[in-house]
Amino acid sequence: MCIRRLIMSLLLMSGFIGLTAQDIEVSTLSDSYVMLRVSSDAHYVLLPVEESQSNDRIRVIKNNGVVEELNVRLAVNKVDYYVPLDIRRLAATQRDDKSKTVLLDIIVNRENTANSASKLATSDFAAWKLIKTSNTIETDNREKFRPLYHHTPVYGWMNDPNGLFYKDGVWHLYFQHNPYGSQWENMTWGHSTSTDLVNWKFEGDAIRPDAFGTIFSGSAVVDKDNAAGFGRGAVIAYYTSAGKSQMQCMAYSTDDGKTFTKYEDNPILVSDIPDFRDPHIIWYKPTKRWVLIVSEKQHMKLFSSKNLKDWTFESDFGEGYGSHAGVWECPDLLDMGNGKWVLVCNINPGGPFGGSATQYFTGTFDGHKFTCDADSVATKWMDWGKDHYATVTFDNAPNGRKVALPWMSNWQYASQVPTKQYRSANGIPRDLGYFEYKGTGYCSVKPSPEAIMAFSQKAQSHVTPACRIDVQTRSRTVITLSNSKDERVTMTYDAKSETFAMDRTKSGQTDFNANFPVLTKAPTLGKIKMLQIFVDKSSIEVFDADGKMAMTNLVFPSEPYNRLAVNGGKAKVYPLK
Ligand code: FRU
Repeated sequence: MCIRRLIMSLLLMSGFIGLTAQDIEVSTLSDSYVMLRVSSDAHYVLLPVEESQSNDRIRVIKNNGVVEELNVRLAVNKVDYYVPLDIRRLAATQRDDKSKTVLLDIIVNRENTANSASKLATSDFAAWKLIKTSNTIETDNREKFRPLYHHTPVYGWMNDPNGLFYKDGVWHLYFQHNPYGSQWENMTWGHSTSTDLVNWKFEGDAIRPDAFGTIFSGSAVVDKDNAAGFGRGAVIAYYTSAGKSQMQCMAYSTDDGKTFTKYEDNPILVSDIPDFRDPHIIWYKPTKRWVLIVSEKQHMKLFSSKNLKDWTFESDFGEGYGSHAGVWECPDLLDMGNGKWVLVCNINPGGPFGGSATQYFTGTFDGHKFTCDADSVATKWMDWGKDHYATVTFDNAPNGRKVALPWMSNWQYASQVPTKQYRSANGIPRDLGYFEYKGTGYCSVKPSPEAIMAFSQKAQSHVTPACRIDVQTRSRTVITLSNSKDERVTMTYDAKSETFAMDRTKSGQTDFNANFPVLTKAPTLGKIKMLQIFVDKSSIEVFDADGKMAMTNLVFPSEPYNRLAVNGGKAKVYPLK
């Protein structure tokens, strides 16, 4: 290959080539105010981001009106990565206007340390030289920690899964997305779909911030009988608008969740309590009512409705139950059959090993009130790792399945994990159920069959960066995954103490946050016969095959673990199909 072509392809790989920036005119009007005039046929403006900077405020102006507002950490000294601003979509928001010009009106934040240290004049910021237009966005999966069989955002930050539903053979996953950077900001519902819960396709952003605020977490239901009047089979999404206060709003889709129209009479629920968010809706057959559960500070509020629009307060749940060491968030209410119910309550902070985690309550529900079956305040955790949060289930899943998806991170360090163009993944899908042990009810957690089926049935002799390891345990089983740098994760099952532990203190890169290197330990509620261990580049998820224990942890080995040692047990390794 000639040198020029080599350089060109390197530049292309690094995402540094766009169309010429001659179609962007820069005017620095003051130290804190810059205007960019973009006159282009291209699909995107690629905004250069430098993560250590603080946010600048961009207003996109089209034909004298603001069509979008966003916060971006524009590059001052160097570019960490680019984020796409879809100018084709923005230009189309005013149909009668044929002009290709949009203005980016930028309030530059000069407060942050990185700027003042560099003492660069605003006009010299790298962003103005490196901003460019492009018809494509970089979607290659090249980062070394990007998982192979877990859902990740194609670019940008992700936290909670939102609006999960299943319809006509397709699983829909919306997620808390920052389309303009790999830090939490500009909360928007990103949208991905899958037919097997393992391979996901990004469908674009579905619900964007508006005058009420940014779009926080929530749920979606398939309105089969047209209760809301938007049409049979319409998908109705409920989310929290986070602006001056947190309010519950709704939006509906008549194209199977691809695009949403916001309901004209939003908001549908308000409160004078500042933490009031993450509405989750279920159908309760006996009373023929929809039930909405929403978290408010440290308890849950339940409402009911016949038409999915007008909601009547039913009851509160939470005082005196479970952990109150943090704010209650992202609820779910699950009918486990035989009169047994599980109320899911994510909490941050207050997790068993610090930061965020998922607690739950078992009990009964009569359409009006959830009654916990335990008097004690003992907390039940759905997962005993450090990276399992905001877990909720899919609406309308086939055969009454309760398929749950966690956000695989922890608020303590989610913004510092060593990835770049994207941040965070979801855990593998899990099927939830109910079991009793010594007279107490628990929620069982098993890898969904789709996750098991992602692997070959033929075992191989060695560990690969993305594989499943099944281990038949004995009374004490120690499993160690390691690499040539002696970075390792040690997992210990001890039948006598009925515990399982995972030690990631020497797992590789751990120093990005003092809360990351930990040993997590779970009660196993009886014996474990078989452990199923899912390894994928930067995560290890361990399940008791019988569903009594789950543990989800991130790891960042500087090279993939390629050695497996099992002491007191028998392991089989299955490669990804
Ligand atoms: C949970 C959470 C939710 C909120 C969302 C905002 O992780 O704090 O309560 O809706 O994240 O992104």
